[in-house]
Amino acid sequence: MAERIDGKAAAADLRGRIAEETRVLKEKTGVTPGLAVILVGDDPASRVYVQNKKRGCEEVGFYSRSFHLPADTGMEALLDLIRTLNGDEAIHGILVQLPLPAHLDEKTVTEAIAPEKDVDAFTYANVGRIVSGDFDLVPCTPAGIMALLSIYGVSPDGKHAVVVGRSNIVGKPMALLLLHQNATVTICHSHTKNLKEICREADILVAAVGKPRFITRDMVKEGAVVIDVGINRTETGLVGDVDYEGVEPLASKITPVPGGVGPMTITMLLQNTLTAAKRAAEREKP
Ligand code: GUN
Repeated sequence: MAERIDGKAAAADLRGRIAEETRVLKEKTGVTPGLAVILVGDDPASRVYVQNKKRGCEEVGFYSRSFHLPADTGMEALLDLIRTLNGDEAIHGILVQLPLPAHLDEKTVTEAIAPEKDVDAFTYANVGRIVSGDFDLVPCTPAGIMALLSIYGVSPDGKHAVVVGRSNIVGKPMALLLLHQNATVTICHSHTKNLKEICREADILVAAVGKPRFITRDMVKEGAVVIDVGINRTETGLVGDVDYEGVEPLASKITPVPGGVGPMTITMLLQNTLTAAKRAAEREKP
């Protein structure tokens, strides 16, 4: 029987600490962390995520603004809003919810965000810092996973970590964060040969493929730590990328879906916003 990694409890604990640090920052510097979230269009899943981000901000005492723009918003209007927020001293973090409608180029939009306010850590400047290991803004989902590993006493040092999925949002930064903590890292993707054999070598297996129950029992080594990033909406409800029932008896620790990685993601967004606000306060009063 695997130990269940309780992301909900870990997130609640971390949010308590963020709230306390926010209170201290306000008291000492007068700075209230501020997050602006921009949603373009009406994707129902994105609406829920944006609402949860707003609620998370309120919970820890941040200032938050949300901008809901129509689906036919033009590039210039969106870039204008980002430029205004870049210059707004009350805002320390800017997040543009992805995916954007097809007529808006995601890279151009992301790059318009000032790197010091890029709380997703998606800009090339922040990606470069993550590659070199000199960063303080971290992509939220991988950061949440690293926090869970630490809380549950799993050190990546010397372990073989296998990351299934190579997205810019999760797979690639996940691999880098594990590497920075001295794991031996393999990244697998849709063209990988011998996927099953490679996964079976993992001490830490991170599934970020976006396919329901893709990781099955025969792909997992006994005693592995299994992290499920998947949020797949199926007819039977929300399921992860891991076949939980099949894999759980083999694993030493495993994240459930929901209640595993998910609650940590927004928590790390709050953490990044707090970090950005602290840096801004330091710039004002060195
Ligand atoms: N859409 C899905 N995940 C994310 C995320 O982490 N950040 C943003 N901005 N959009 C997303």
